[in-house]
Amino acid sequence: MAKNKKNTKFSTKSIHTGNRIDETGATVTPLHLTSTFRQPSFSSSEKFVYSRTGGPTIDALEENFAMLEDAKFSFAFASGMAAMSAIFLMFKPGDHVLISQNVYGGVFRLVTKVLNDNGVNFDFIDTTDLKIIKQAIRPTTKLIHLETPSNPLLEIADISSISKVCKSKNILVSVDNTFMSPYGQKPLNLGADIVMHSTTKYIGGHSDILSGA
Ligand SMILES: Cc1ncc(COP(=O)(O)O)c(C=O)c1O
Repeated sequence: MAKNKKNTKFSTKSIHTGNRIDETGATVTPLHLTSTFRQPSFSSSEKFVYSRTGGPTIDALEENFAMLEDAKFSFAFASGMAAMSAIFLMFKPGDHVLISQNVYGGVFRLVTKVLNDNGVNFDFIDTTDLKIIKQAIRPTTKLIHLETPSNPLLEIADISSISKVCKSKNILVSVDNTFMSPYGQKPLNLGADIVMHSTTKYIGGHSDILSGA
């Protein structure tokens, strides 16, 4: 497929990557409307077992997301907030997480109304200023989550400089790239460790898709 051709353009790759032409010849990836996949025996398990954890349609989408962001792999979620939750749930009580102060309201509410009571310490800071970030880092800081550009104020964080500081301190950097899209910015190539999306904006493009990555 087009994904292996180095000089293939972004628009072509974004259409073709992940697509597998099956025996029907359908040019659009089929939807597999099954909850469970048949297993050959009780003790063996095939690549696809149960649709919540994966299936051919989701596989194609995840391959495409990974290509768009130059990532090693990707996970598709039912929404951007589900993807965001998965990132924050990696941390344990006592861990410290820094977050851009003007993040999307749903992320602010997830942190302040749900996760704050679970023992992880969250601080919202001005991530447009590297000095402020350096001062806010604690020995227990495990992640800096940047929303850049932020929704809706379009505040910008310097992903490269922040990632350099974080690498030296073993702190992960995650970037919400919903508002720029991988066409305009590829955070992993700027040094970030994780990139997430709500597909409701530029990935979907027509306000008719709800999912996350
Ligand atoms: C920047 C940003 N991050 C995360 C989200 C949440 O994504 P979703 O609505 O798909 O759960 C949104 C939704 O508008 C967003 O704009």
